[in-house]
Amino acid sequence: MLWLLLIWMPSISALDNGLARAPPMGWLAWERFRCNTDCENDPHNCISERLFMQMADLIIAEGYYDVGYRYVNVDDCWLAHDRDRHGFLQPDHKRFPSGMKALGDYIHNRGLKYGIYEDYGNYTCAGYPGILGHLKEDAETFERWGVDYVKLDGCYSHPNDMDSGYPEFGYWLNKTGRPMIYACSWPVYQTYSGMKPNYTSIINTCNLWRNFDDIQDSWSSVERTIDYYGDNQDIIIANAGPGHWNDPDMLIIGNFGLSYEQSKTQMAMWAIFAAPLLMSVDLRTIKPDYKAILKNKKIIAVNQDPLGIQGRRIYKQKGIEIWARPILPVYRSKYSYGIVFLNRRTDGTPSEVSVTLKELGLDNPAGYHIEDLYDEHVYGVVTPDRRFKVDVNPSGSVVMIRCDIVKGRNGGLFSNEFGAQPRQSDSFVLDLGNIGYRGNLDGTQPFGAQYPQIRGQGYVDPDPVIVDGQVAGPPNNRIFRNAGPSPAPAVAQPVSPAAGIPNVPYVPPNYPSGHYDHHEHGYSFQTINGQYVNTGKRRKRDISEEKIADKGCKKELGMYTVDVKVEEKDRLN
Ligand code: GLA
Repeated sequence: MLWLLLIWMPSISALDNGLARAPPMGWLAWERFRCNTDCENDPHNCISERLFMQMADLIIAEGYYDVGYRYVNVDDCWLAHDRDRHGFLQPDHKRFPSGMKALGDYIHNRGLKYGIYEDYGNYTCAGYPGILGHLKEDAETFERWGVDYVKLDGCYSHPNDMDSGYPEFGYWLNKTGRPMIYACSWPVYQTYSGMKPNYTSIINTCNLWRNFDDIQDSWSSVERTIDYYGDNQDIIIANAGPGHWNDPDMLIIGNFGLSYEQSKTQMAMWAIFAAPLLMSVDLRTIKPDYKAILKNKKIIAVNQDPLGIQGRRIYKQKGIEIWARPILPVYRSKYSYGIVFLNRRTDGTPSEVSVTLKELGLDNPAGYHIEDLYDEHVYGVVTPDRRFKVDVNPSGSVVMIRCDIVKGRNGGLFSNEFGAQPRQSDSFVLDLGNIGYRGNLDGTQPFGAQYPQIRGQGYVDPDPVIVDGQVAGPPNNRIFRNAGPSPAPAVAQPVSPAAGIPNVPYVPPNYPSGHYDHHEHGYSFQTINGQYVNTGKRRKRDISEEKIADKGCKKELGMYTVDVKVEEKDRLN
């Protein structure tokens, strides 16, 4: 019963036109195809009915429909430069020779839904006719064409006018009687002109709204969006819920700007944000790896979670972030969670994030059933006090898990007899009390070919690390966990520019002082036998416990490790 109450609570006083109960999923032309109107020279990529028909076909044929994608959305540049002689909107007839109703029919005949773009202003952002002065007839035109989703932009209008203009067009859309999702750009234009958006009014008018920059084909653009959502979470999260969503803009997965790992990150973060999933990618040429990201059912399930609660950033320190979104099932007023560990460090090796569920605020005594959402690994049931470790690749990578609350002590949702399980496919996983994994030496796992990960106590090391002729202490206390021992050279070798060439006088490099002496670089230069060499490791005195503690970093050469301490106010539940 309680969870029913929780479902109901966030949706008080917001637009309830029955649409977008979960964030809409579909395809949108803009980010990838922009305003390419040159069908003569570039017929495959220009904004034309052909492009949208092909995308509709591919959404079905390639199985995107099967995982939930429904909308085929036209963006800017579909219009003719003038209205017709009766004042109605009309498409560019060369590029849309069959007309907009026919395009809608084509899309509907495939079981999909039809989206269109307009602008509350004199012009669209690309300079085509806007709806100002024609609100009623344009809403009616969209109804006649069978439109299911209207994105209404805000170029060439005054942000002051939007507080009345967006609701007015919403009124005319409702008046048509046709259910059409209403996607607004109202808050972003107001914020940028220094106004404070009236979110009470916005969530009563729009199914979704943009609050930040247009997404571009780059990781830095995705990062800026992530930061905006984190930095403004106290203002924007409360506005999201079934029927009304913040829109951080399109998915750019499968294009040119994101690495594979960063693409996984966008998908994971958009799930945490409860964001619309609007792919803007060429579905004709997308590579299988990226297609798989877009079709990841487990992440889509978090995105579409019926509670509709947007997630938040609960931890951000030194490039490591933790984000969490409350999801079903709920038990005794405690949520389950989708959790993302995001590593924005650029120091080349995975970072180890170590935390107890309790530290995050997940304190259900019977624990949580934990599953990795990208690599099919099920950890099993983890109780709140157990230390949970994940290795997160650098440069914008994530580990995403789902923590389903376990009901009661025995039995319930999942059997918890066995406790947390190490990954079965990892030949040298050593999971002696904690959770963790490291890839196989053959590199088939993401973190392949690394020194085995050590977990827990009582482990007898078959291949101990020796430092200065001594076994380097119990595994847990090792400093160089991921690096094999590299004995100091008897005679220091010259480094560049004379590297490897005997008898060439060595010229010490002129590095700016302190430049390489920073823990993020993971290596250092020092003087040995009068020569300045790259030792491949840091000076001993720099790895004193205080220094390390000071930097929040336990290990100097290997991975950055962090024992997460979440601030009380940021804890979950
Ligand atoms: C604005 C919007 C974009 C896109 C373009 C089209 O910039 O924010 O999403 O629709 O206009 O011109």
